[in-house]
Parts: sequence; C-alpha cells; structure tokens
Amino acid sequence: MAETIDRYTVFGNPVAHSKSPQIHTLFAEQTGQSLIYTAELAEIGQFDQAVKKFLDNNGKGLNITVPFKEDAWLCATQRSDRAQRAGAVNTLIVKPDGELFGDTTDGTGLVRDLVQNHNMPIRDKDILLIGAGGAVRGVLEALLEQRPSSLLIANRTKQKALQLANDFADLGNIKGCGLDEINQADFDLVINGTSASLQGDLPPLPASIFRKHSCSYDMMYAAQATPFMVWSTNNGATKVFDGLGMLVEQAAESFYIWRNVRPQTKPVIQHIRNLLI
Ligand code: ATR
Repeated sequence: MAETIDRYTVFGNPVAHSKSPQIHTLFAEQTGQSLIYTAELAEIGQFDQAVKKFLDNNGKGLNITVPFKEDAWLCATQRSDRAQRAGAVNTLIVKPDGELFGDTTDGTGLVRDLVQNHNMPIRDKDILLIGAGGAVRGVLEALLEQRPSSLLIANRTKQKALQLANDFADLGNIKGCGLDEINQADFDLVINGTSASLQGDLPPLPASIFRKHSCSYDMMYAAQATPFMVWSTNNGATKVFDGLGMLVEQAAESFYIWRNVRPQTKPVIQHIRNLLI
C-alpha cells in the first residue's frame, strides 16, 4: 500500500545539527497529529529540484534553513507580505489549489519568545539590534510591529545597516550605524543578530549600552552561554537570554501554518534545553 502519511522536512546545508525534527516530532505527539518530519541535506544549486522531489513524495510542507532561505523565496509561487518584505522564506506549504506558499516565521518566533516567554515587552522600548545580515532582516518587521520607541541597527559593515534601516523606515523609528558609532548610552533591549557567536566571537561593543533592567538576547544558542551572553552579564545586563526559545517559537508558527494547530512551546523548549546539556 502506498504511504499516505503527511511528510515535512527541513532543507539545509549543513543540516545534521538541526533540532527541527525533534521539535516537530514533539509538537506532533503533543497535539496528536500524524506526520513524519525529517532533515534533508540539499545540494547547493539543486534546491528547486529537491523541493519538487520532496513534494512528489507526499511532502506537504518544508522548513528552510541556511543557505537556502532566498532560494525558497524564489521558489515560492505565492508569499506572505512579511516574507515578501524579508526577502527570505523559512516555511513552505502546498496550498489546496497547488500553489507553493512561502512565509517567514523567524520574526514571530523572536517576538513571542521575548514577550510571552521572557515577559519582555517591546512597546515603547529602545532597542539595539546588532548585525545586518539575513537573520536580522527576517525579524525587523515583527519587531517594528511591536512599536518600540526606537530601533538602532548597528553593523560591522555600516552600509548594510543603513540600507536595512532605509528598507524598513516606513514601519517605525529605525536607524542604522556602524558598530563603532553607537553613541546612545543605553538600551532596554540589546539583540545580537550577528553570526559571531557561531565562531565563538563577540562583536566589539561599548560597555555602556545597558541600563538598569536591560535585557540582552542572543539569537544564537548553545549548551553554554554564548560569548555575547557572558559579555552582557559582565557589563550590566540584568536579564540575558539565548535564542533557543526563538527556534522553538518559529517552529511552532510553521507547525500552525501547516496543521492549523498551535502546539504548547514551553515544555518543548525545556525538553530541547535538557538535550543540549
Ligand atoms: P545570517 O544569515 O546569519 O544573518 P549573514 O547574512 O552572513 O548571515 O550575516 C552575518 C552578520 O553577522 C553580518 O551582519 C556580519 O557583519 P558584516 O555585515 O560586517 O559581515 C555579522 N558578523 C559576523 N561575524 C561577526 C563578527 N565577528 N563581528 C561582528 N559582526 C559579525
């Protein structure tokens, strides 16, 4: 008998490290959904063919991670407004009419983790966002929707920060600068959206960026505190978080798009956290 179970996957390169199969399997168990979720290594330059092959084999939806989020944006035949602006897609779903719909759930994931899991409201706050790559572009709309008082993007390559601020200027009070030009003394929330933590690196930052009750958030996560988290603690941040909650929250939003069921995230965050140690 032909297999009829709904299939989902994450495409990346590399992808072996991905926690998404564990997260979605936990969501499926928790919500009683019958599905299989795998991780697949897609070859660079072969993304569209890999998507087609997966969908031909009862694939219903995909997550997309580095380096294919722009390929996925191009591959989608329809896109959400937020994906359209982000220029990246991390979630694909086959619609009943056969259209391949692309969305991005990273921004929602970050905001849910901050606001709901960590009780860190963004409205009327001063935010410093470090980095200006794809990861930062993907979360800007969701952050600005929360109506922060100000959002400053600071990046090693200043021009990229200026460009991003310009691209999102219609959505709120957003500015860009170089890392060496952060002249505001303090912020309520500092988010590291660079990939520096992946290399065990720390962006050079002035120690004066935190105020009393400042929150520091690294979009990366690891078993131990990242260099940015350690530096934040040592320089006056009162609350310091990593991006594991964001990972699980963006997954939950993808799961909702595919299955129309919203899983509980807190037990899954805890479960994955325990596996890291
Ligand atoms: P991603 O998809 O993870 O955002 P990316 O688009 O390559 O990856 O962007 C990486 C970001 O991290 C950039 O903002 C990069 O700064 P540059 O634009 O100047 O390259 C930043 N970054 C990476 N390593 C860094 C480091 N050691 N110090 C400061 N910024 C760093």
